[in-house]
Amino acid sequence: MHQQTPALYNDCAYTMISAEEISVLVDRIAAEVQATYQDSPRRLIMVVILKGSMPFAAELLKRLTLPVELEFMKVSSYGAGTKSSGEIKISLDLVRDDLQDIDLLLIEDIVDSGRTLSRLTDLLRNRNAHSVRTCTLLDKPSRREVDFTPDFCGTVVPDEFVVGFGLDYNEKYRNLPFIGVLKPEIYS
Ligand code: PRP
Repeated sequence: MHQQTPALYNDCAYTMISAEEISVLVDRIAAEVQATYQDSPRRLIMVVILKGSMPFAAELLKRLTLPVELEFMKVSSYGAGTKSSGEIKISLDLVRDDLQDIDLLLIEDIVDSGRTLSRLTDLLRNRNAHSVRTCTLLDKPSRREVDFTPDFCGTVVPDEFVVGFGLDYNEKYRNLPFIGVLKPEIYS
Protein backbone atom coordinates (compact mmCIF):
# COMPACT_ATOMS: atom_id res chain seq x y z
CA MET A 1 0.00 0.00 0.00
CA HIS A 2 2.24 2.83 1.25
CA GLN A 3 5.81 2.88 0.00
CA GLN A 4 6.78 4.95 3.03
CA THR A 5 5.09 5.30 6.37
CA PRO A 6 3.20 8.63 6.27
CA ALA A 7 4.64 11.34 8.52
CA LEU A 8 1.39 11.48 10.49
CA TYR A 9 1.80 7.82 11.41
CA ASN A 10 5.37 8.43 12.57
CA ASP A 11 4.12 10.89 15.20
CA CYS A 12 2.72 7.88 17.07
CA ALA A 13 5.02 6.05 19.49
CA TYR A 14 3.02 2.86 18.99
CA THR A 15 -0.32 1.49 17.88
CA MET A 16 -2.58 0.85 20.85
CA ILE A 17 -5.52 -0.59 18.87
CA SER A 18 -5.12 -1.65 15.25
CA ALA A 19 -7.74 -1.11 12.55
CA GLU A 20 -8.50 -4.83 12.66
CA GLU A 21 -8.94 -4.74 16.43
CA ILE A 22 -11.22 -1.70 16.16
CA SER A 23 -13.35 -3.63 13.71
CA VAL A 24 -13.73 -6.51 16.16
CA LEU A 25 -14.72 -4.09 18.94
CA VAL A 26 -17.33 -2.42 16.74
CA ASP A 27 -18.73 -5.83 15.72
CA ARG A 28 -19.27 -6.71 19.37
CA ILE A 29 -20.79 -3.32 20.30
CA ALA A 30 -23.13 -3.52 17.29
CA ALA A 31 -24.34 -6.94 18.43
CA GLU A 32 -24.99 -5.59 21.93
CA VAL A 33 -26.85 -2.54 20.61
CA GLN A 34 -28.86 -4.70 18.27
CA ALA A 35 -29.85 -7.07 21.09
CA THR A 36 -30.84 -4.18 23.35
CA TYR A 37 -33.15 -2.43 20.91
CA GLN A 38 -34.43 -5.13 18.58
CA ASP A 39 -37.70 -5.64 20.45
CA SER A 40 -38.33 -1.97 21.14
CA PRO A 41 -41.46 -0.58 19.50
CA ARG A 42 -40.02 2.92 19.66
CA ARG A 43 -37.93 4.90 17.19
CA LEU A 44 -34.22 4.64 17.81
CA ILE A 45 -32.07 7.69 17.15
CA MET A 46 -28.29 7.50 17.15
CA VAL A 47 -26.95 10.86 18.29
CA VAL A 48 -23.42 11.37 17.03
CA ILE A 49 -21.47 13.70 19.31
CA LEU A 50 -19.20 15.66 16.96
CA LYS A 51 -16.54 15.61 15.98
CA GLY A 52 -14.47 12.75 17.30
CA SER A 53 -17.11 10.03 17.20
CA MET A 54 -17.78 10.32 13.47
CA PRO A 55 -15.66 7.35 12.26
CA PHE A 56 -16.90 5.10 15.07
CA ALA A 57 -20.51 6.10 14.50
CA ALA A 58 -20.20 5.40 10.77
CA GLU A 59 -18.80 1.93 11.38
CA LEU A 60 -21.42 1.15 14.02
CA LEU A 61 -24.26 2.40 11.84
CA LYS A 62 -23.28 0.12 8.96
CA ARG A 63 -23.45 -2.93 11.21
CA LEU A 64 -26.96 -2.27 12.56
CA THR A 65 -29.84 -3.89 10.72
CA LEU A 66 -32.71 -2.52 12.81
CA PRO A 67 -34.37 0.76 11.84
CA VAL A 68 -32.19 3.57 13.19
CA GLU A 69 -32.23 7.31 12.60
CA LEU A 70 -29.28 9.64 12.72
CA GLU A 71 -28.86 13.01 14.44
CA PHE A 72 -25.87 15.09 15.48
CA MET A 73 -24.88 17.24 18.42
CA LYS A 74 -21.74 19.27 19.00
CA VAL A 75 -20.76 19.85 22.57
CA SER A 76 -17.71 21.30 24.26
CA SER A 77 -16.62 21.91 27.81
CA TYR A 78 -16.91 25.46 29.09
CA GLY A 79 -13.24 26.40 28.65
CA ALA A 80 -10.26 24.42 29.85
CA GLY A 81 -9.79 26.71 32.85
CA THR A 82 -13.26 26.15 34.20
CA LYS A 83 -13.38 22.37 34.03
CA SER A 84 -14.55 22.08 37.60
CA SER A 85 -17.77 23.92 36.74
CA GLY A 86 -18.74 20.90 34.66
CA GLU A 87 -20.79 23.05 32.33
CA ILE A 88 -21.03 22.11 28.69
CA LYS A 89 -21.72 24.34 25.71
CA ILE A 90 -23.98 22.99 22.99
CA SER A 91 -23.05 24.52 19.65
CA LEU A 92 -25.24 22.16 17.60
CA ASP A 93 -28.41 20.84 19.17
CA LEU A 94 -31.01 18.27 18.15
CA VAL A 95 -33.49 19.68 15.72
CA ARG A 96 -36.44 17.88 17.25
CA ASP A 97 -38.03 18.52 20.65
CA ASP A 98 -40.59 15.71 20.59
CA LEU A 99 -38.56 12.96 22.25
CA GLN A 100 -41.32 11.26 24.24
CA ASP A 101 -41.47 8.02 22.28
CA ILE A 102 -37.85 7.91 21.29
CA ASP A 103 -34.87 5.86 22.40
CA LEU A 104 -31.69 7.93 22.18
CA LEU A 105 -28.27 6.35 21.84
CA LEU A 106 -25.44 8.85 22.31
CA ILE A 107 -22.26 7.94 20.45
CA GLU A 108 -18.82 9.02 21.68
CA ASP A 109 -15.26 8.19 20.72
CA ILE A 110 -13.96 8.44 24.28
CA VAL A 111 -15.15 9.06 27.82
CA ASP A 112 -12.58 10.91 29.89
CA SER A 113 -13.76 12.99 32.86
CA GLY A 114 -17.28 11.78 32.07
CA ARG A 115 -18.67 15.32 32.17
CA THR A 116 -19.82 15.51 28.55
CA LEU A 117 -21.98 12.38 28.57
CA SER A 118 -23.11 12.83 32.15
CA ARG A 119 -24.45 16.33 31.44
CA LEU A 120 -25.86 15.34 28.09
CA THR A 121 -27.79 12.36 29.38
CA ASP A 122 -29.28 14.51 32.17
CA LEU A 123 -30.25 17.17 29.66
CA LEU A 124 -31.90 14.76 27.23
CA ARG A 125 -33.74 12.89 29.98
CA ASN A 126 -35.11 16.23 31.07
CA ARG A 127 -36.44 16.65 27.56
CA ASN A 128 -38.46 13.49 28.17
CA ALA A 129 -36.76 11.04 25.86
CA HIS A 130 -38.13 7.57 26.61
CA SER A 131 -34.60 6.29 27.15
CA VAL A 132 -31.10 7.71 26.88
CA ARG A 133 -28.18 5.30 26.62
CA THR A 134 -24.54 5.97 25.89
CA CYS A 135 -22.05 4.17 23.69
CA THR A 136 -18.32 4.84 23.53
CA LEU A 137 -15.50 3.16 21.66
CA LEU A 138 -12.95 3.98 24.36
CA ASP A 139 -13.23 4.56 28.08
CA LYS A 140 -10.58 6.08 30.35
CA PRO A 141 -12.02 5.47 33.81
CA SER A 142 -8.75 6.55 35.44
CA ARG A 143 -9.58 10.13 34.39
CA ARG A 144 -13.12 10.18 35.74
CA GLU A 145 -14.25 13.30 37.62
CA VAL A 146 -17.93 12.43 37.89
CA ASP A 147 -19.76 9.18 38.53
CA PHE A 148 -20.53 7.93 35.02
CA THR A 149 -20.52 4.53 33.32
CA PRO A 150 -21.33 4.15 29.61
CA ASP A 151 -23.95 1.56 28.66
CA PHE A 152 -21.89 0.22 25.76
CA CYS A 153 -18.10 0.35 25.62
CA GLY A 154 -15.51 -0.97 23.18
CA THR A 155 -12.58 -1.13 25.54
CA VAL A 156 -11.00 0.52 28.55
CA VAL A 157 -7.72 2.30 27.78
CA PRO A 158 -4.92 3.49 30.06
CA ASP A 159 -4.24 7.19 30.57
CA GLU A 160 -2.15 7.70 27.43
CA PHE A 161 -2.46 10.46 24.81
CA VAL A 162 -4.45 8.56 22.21
CA VAL A 163 -5.18 9.81 18.70
CA GLY A 164 -6.68 8.41 15.53
CA PHE A 165 -10.00 6.98 14.35
CA GLY A 166 -11.62 10.34 15.12
CA LEU A 167 -9.52 11.34 18.12
CA ASP A 168 -7.40 14.43 17.57
CA TYR A 169 -4.54 16.50 18.84
CA ASN A 170 -4.96 20.11 17.67
CA GLU A 171 -7.48 18.82 15.10
CA LYS A 172 -4.91 16.49 13.49
CA TYR A 173 -4.68 12.68 13.46
CA ARG A 174 -8.45 12.08 13.21
CA ASN A 175 -7.86 10.30 9.89
CA LEU A 176 -5.53 7.62 11.24
CA PRO A 177 -7.27 4.25 10.74
CA PHE A 178 -5.96 2.98 14.11
CA ILE A 179 -5.71 4.27 17.68
CA GLY A 180 -2.14 5.36 18.36
CA VAL A 181 -0.28 6.85 21.29
CA LEU A 182 1.22 10.20 20.41
CA LYS A 183 4.93 10.69 20.98
CA PRO A 184 5.41 13.06 23.94
CA GLU A 185 7.63 15.40 21.91
CA ILE A 186 4.66 16.18 19.66
CA TYR A 187 2.56 17.72 22.43
CA SER A 188 5.13 18.84 25.02
C1 PRP B 1 -13.80 14.69 23.47
C2 PRP B 1 -14.62 13.44 23.24
C3 PRP B 1 -15.78 13.63 24.17
C4 PRP B 1 -15.18 14.39 25.33
C5 PRP B 1 -14.87 13.42 26.43
O1 PRP B 1 -14.35 15.68 22.67
O2 PRP B 1 -15.02 13.31 21.91
O3 PRP B 1 -16.81 14.40 23.57
O4 PRP B 1 -13.96 14.99 24.85
O5 PRP B 1 -14.35 14.11 27.53
P1 PRP B 1 -15.06 14.16 28.94
O6 PRP B 1 -15.46 12.77 29.31
O7 PRP B 1 -13.95 14.71 29.82
O8 PRP B 1 -16.23 15.11 28.86
P2 PRP B 1 -13.61 17.05 22.35
O9 PRP B 1 -14.10 18.12 23.30
O10 PRP B 1 -12.12 16.84 22.32
O11 PRP B 1 -14.17 17.43 20.94
P3 PRP B 1 -14.03 16.69 19.52
O12 PRP B 1 -14.86 15.43 19.59
O13 PRP B 1 -14.58 17.67 18.55
O14 PRP B 1 -12.56 16.39 19.31
